[in-house]
Amino acid sequence: MYMFTYYVNNTERVVAVAYISDDLLSEIVAANDIIEYASSFMTLKKSGRQYKACCPFHNEKTPSFGIDRDKQLFHCFGCGASGNFLQLVMRLEGLDFQDAIKQLADRAGIVIPEDGERRASAAAQVKERIIEMNKIAARFFHDCLGQEHGRQAREYFARRHLTKKTIIQFGLGYAPDSADALVNFLKTRGYSDRDIEVSGLAVTGKNGLRDKFRNRVMFPIINARGKVIGFGGRIMGNDKLPNGVRLAKYLNSPETAAFDKGANLFALNLAKNSNARDIILCEGYMDVITVHQAGITNCVATLGTAITDRQARLMLRYGSEVLICYDMDEAGTKAALRAIDIIAAAGGRSRVIRLSGAKDPDEYISKYGIDSFRKAIDKAMPSTEFRLHLQKQEYDLNDTDGKIRFVEAAANVLAAVNDPVEVEAYIKKTAKDTGISEQSIFGKYKEIKGRQPRSPAVRTKEEHKRRELSRINSSKPPQERVSAAARDAERKLLSIAARSKRLANRAAKLITPDEFSDKVYAHMAQRIYESAAAGEEADPAAIINEFSGERESEDQAGAVFFNREEYSDDEQTLYDLIYKIKLDRLQSKINAAEQPEEIGRLLEEKTKLIADRGRWQSIN
Ligand code: GTP
Ligand code: MN
Repeated sequence: MYMFTYYVNNTERVVAVAYISDDLLSEIVAANDIIEYASSFMTLKKSGRQYKACCPFHNEKTPSFGIDRDKQLFHCFGCGASGNFLQLVMRLEGLDFQDAIKQLADRAGIVIPEDGERRASAAAQVKERIIEMNKIAARFFHDCLGQEHGRQAREYFARRHLTKKTIIQFGLGYAPDSADALVNFLKTRGYSDRDIEVSGLAVTGKNGLRDKFRNRVMFPIINARGKVIGFGGRIMGNDKLPNGVRLAKYLNSPETAAFDKGANLFALNLAKNSNARDIILCEGYMDVITVHQAGITNCVATLGTAITDRQARLMLRYGSEVLICYDMDEAGTKAALRAIDIIAAAGGRSRVIRLSGAKDPDEYISKYGIDSFRKAIDKAMPSTEFRLHLQKQEYDLNDTDGKIRFVEAAANVLAAVNDPVEVEAYIKKTAKDTGISEQSIFGKYKEIKGRQPRSPAVRTKEEHKRRELSRINSSKPPQERVSAAARDAERKLLSIAARSKRLANRAAKLITPDEFSDKVYAHMAQRIYESAAAGEEADPAAIINEFSGERESEDQAGAVFFNREEYSDDEQTLYDLIYKIKLDRLQSKINAAEQPEEIGRLLEEKTKLIADRGRWQSIN
């Protein structure tokens, strides 16, 4: 998703005026032809699979500028300019990203939606229509709540202590006990069977379209921009029908063009306006509603699913820390541990709110009142402390063996912590708890940390990409000098890996992205390996796009995909290049090392490298 954003008061709060989804972006680019477009700027000649021209970005008499129509890439062998279609537009016309997209959209007659009002592509239209229907449905459910047949639902909400104001604020409603009340209502508003089915508000059965939500209290799910994107519906009483069929306590809308469960949060539309510093994450809709009703408005929940990386980032946009307030049972604890990891991987901090004497926040507030809840918020436990606390309960600290095993477990927890100050603080605490010295605990910690691969907590693919890229960008200035020879070898290696999934998988086994000395290539290696592991061809345009705004990096990335050098034996060349890169790297470490032990160790490593090399072909 490419957001057009404004930044308000440096708070990075997104005020989206228009957005372009990845789908729409691809649609816009695909609706244009790179050759046709470029032809109005230069004289192109077809040559094999490519088109050639004199480079528009530097002075030349013989053409070294090439465009690959299939891949939608350009590259100049003279000056090294390189990139995808969009980047060509940006450079030829001096436009920024947004304007380049607009330019291509105009050429193809596609209108980019502004304020979500104007129509864009077919997909965007479907989404708009679903949101329209959801809004109508939300009003319908809310109206039903006020009618005679809504009495049971009104009583249900009253039993759960919800005020009229809360019901209105959350737009709560009632889905009647009927097979087609909503379907018929939508039809009177002009929606077709197909529209209704696509919206997820009804399902097609033997007897045609039938309402999905029946005899349930309804919770509209509203995104940060105030659009109703889906619903949760809860049964009011027994979960067993007279005929023995068991009903799900909560039923949620299916994913639709408008409803992406992993990318949204319940009540974010309200929580985003809270000026609290942090954001509270609960498990259930009812928890969130009760917390809001009690005057704490920085509270959200996931949508009936486990927390995703995207949701973590969304929360961190609005709160500086996430306060996890899950159910106090085993499942809730497990989910909290998972949430801690996901939030940490998204670069955020979290704490855990612990409530005793009630199963969830809703029950807790009803039983003990909001002041107790506020106290629990103030006492929220930092995530590392929470993990250590859980471990501590597993062992008997009066017993020497228990102490030893607890220290081991604690060191494991700490090995995943990035902040050295935090590590030290908890080592001190663990020493106090066990009477084992800080040095010994630190030793254990170092030992475990040394064994680990560098990436700590859980990391999703998405997150990995983002993190790698920010690492590349942030490590720009002190970038150690990368020799031209190393760069060249890395570029060639990646070209080979980019054109063969099999060889990419071989390379992945032999050389990690970290071993590339050039940061751009390291990132590309990561992405090419990922694609190959998933059985997919690496997508040049997408990879180049990840360097958007970094002209030099784009050029460098583009050149990898444009390498047409033929090798008599790609596989052998691959091994030779890997060997060369590893050897160069070791050699420069050896040259830089000062301690004799260090040099000895590196020389051993070198001997091993030379010996191992012959076996690479047979490693599986
Ligand atoms: P009540 O207080 O009993 O209304 O529920 P709760 O808010 O305490 O929710 P609970 O802890 O039971 O579940 C948390 C969340 O998980 C709910 O808000 C739903 O989003 C989801 N959930 C619960 N039960 C079901 C179910 O049967 N099916 C599905 N799909 N989701 C459920
Ligand atoms: Mn509950």
